[in-house]
Amino acid sequence: MLSSEENERLTRVGPGTPAGELLRRYWHPVAVVKELTDETPTRFVRILGEDLMLFKDKSGRAGLLADRCSHRGASLLYGRVEERGIACAYHGWVYDTEGNCLECPAEPPGSKFHLTVKHRAYPVRKFIGLYWTYMGPPPLPLIPRYDVWVKDDGRRQIVVYPRLDANWFQAMENSVDPAHLQILHQDTASAGRKPSSSTRGFIDEIASQEFYEVSYGIMKKRTYKNGRLDEHPLIFPNILRQGDATQIRVPIDDTQTQIFFVHFIPGEKPNGRGGEEDPEVLHLKPFKDPPDRLHPFTRFTMDIVIAQDHMVWETQGPIADRSQERLAASDRGIVMLREMMKREIEKVQSGLDPIGVLREPDQNVMIDTKLTESLVEMESRQQRQHLERVIQEFAIKP
Ligand code: FES
Ligand SMILES: [Fe+2]
Repeated sequence: MLSSEENERLTRVGPGTPAGELLRRYWHPVAVVKELTDETPTRFVRILGEDLMLFKDKSGRAGLLADRCSHRGASLLYGRVEERGIACAYHGWVYDTEGNCLECPAEPPGSKFHLTVKHRAYPVRKFIGLYWTYMGPPPLPLIPRYDVWVKDDGRRQIVVYPRLDANWFQAMENSVDPAHLQILHQDTASAGRKPSSSTRGFIDEIASQEFYEVSYGIMKKRTYKNGRLDEHPLIFPNILRQGDATQIRVPIDDTQTQIFFVHFIPGEKPNGRGGEEDPEVLHLKPFKDPPDRLHPFTRFTMDIVIAQDHMVWETQGPIADRSQERLAASDRGIVMLREMMKREIEKVQSGLDPIGVLREPDQNVMIDTKLTESLVEMESRQQRQHLERVIQEFAIKP
């Protein structure tokens, strides 16, 4: 159980909040590269509670600027892109991708006023078919080269989940809550087997659950009574690795989260042109109907694993009230994650880098986030089968 103050501290993402400042020490994906086109060169992005606008200028540079123009606040989403940047639709103030104001066309001839304007801007990088941003203080860290993101003996696929109407940390706590797999997902993640008790699901197959810290987060380890071992890391602060995939949970704001699923499919031909990775991208339909309402005014499908997860994350509330919970022995991983969050927030507050922030290129060649090789193969196969079903039923057809 947490006090209401502690709950706020671990969950809120806006500028100046403890968790918000921690999250701003990491790179986050904001959009799919191929969705910013010459026809639609701007896109609204809300991330960590900030309203921003992603754009690609006519020289091909991408920028992420505060959506509201520094002049009088019209949205830059409707700006006109030029070679040198984007011109606000209202009075034409032009910004480059770094937020420098290059011209204020309605000012008197020779005016240097534009030189006094600096618009909020964040750096943007392309990586594995996504645009990424870093919203923290300089100098920029590196985007970590986690194995699933950089292996080149296969292809990547990006699946964009429907928006989660809940705080990001609920999804992260779920990633260190291994017991739910055998119970919540008993009908969907057990390869057609039926449990003898719907209360116990397959929980009696588990001999032990353990957690230990690794250099990039927390490894959760399940040992089954039949000797099978199952390890998945939580890549701190907001990524889950499962099989050959990562789920990246990007906070939109305090009560909404965008999940990008990056899947690596070994052995298949990579997609790409001119050395630039161009993965297949799929968007999934909402898991609830009506899609724009919150529990209890909407109903989730319970047909697939990820919809079941969305159901529990959303029904815990927009921000789960952890002053009202009853943690038990099987919630050890959750306690460990909260302790890690508190510790890493304190590091950031005292000017240190939190866990997993990388600055040295030689530490960032390829980061192995998986320990058991045989498991990867088996899980990836199962996950692939499940994902195929998800795609069949939920992918939005272009
Ligand atoms: S509001 Fe953007 S130029 Fe005036
Ligand atoms: Fe789950």
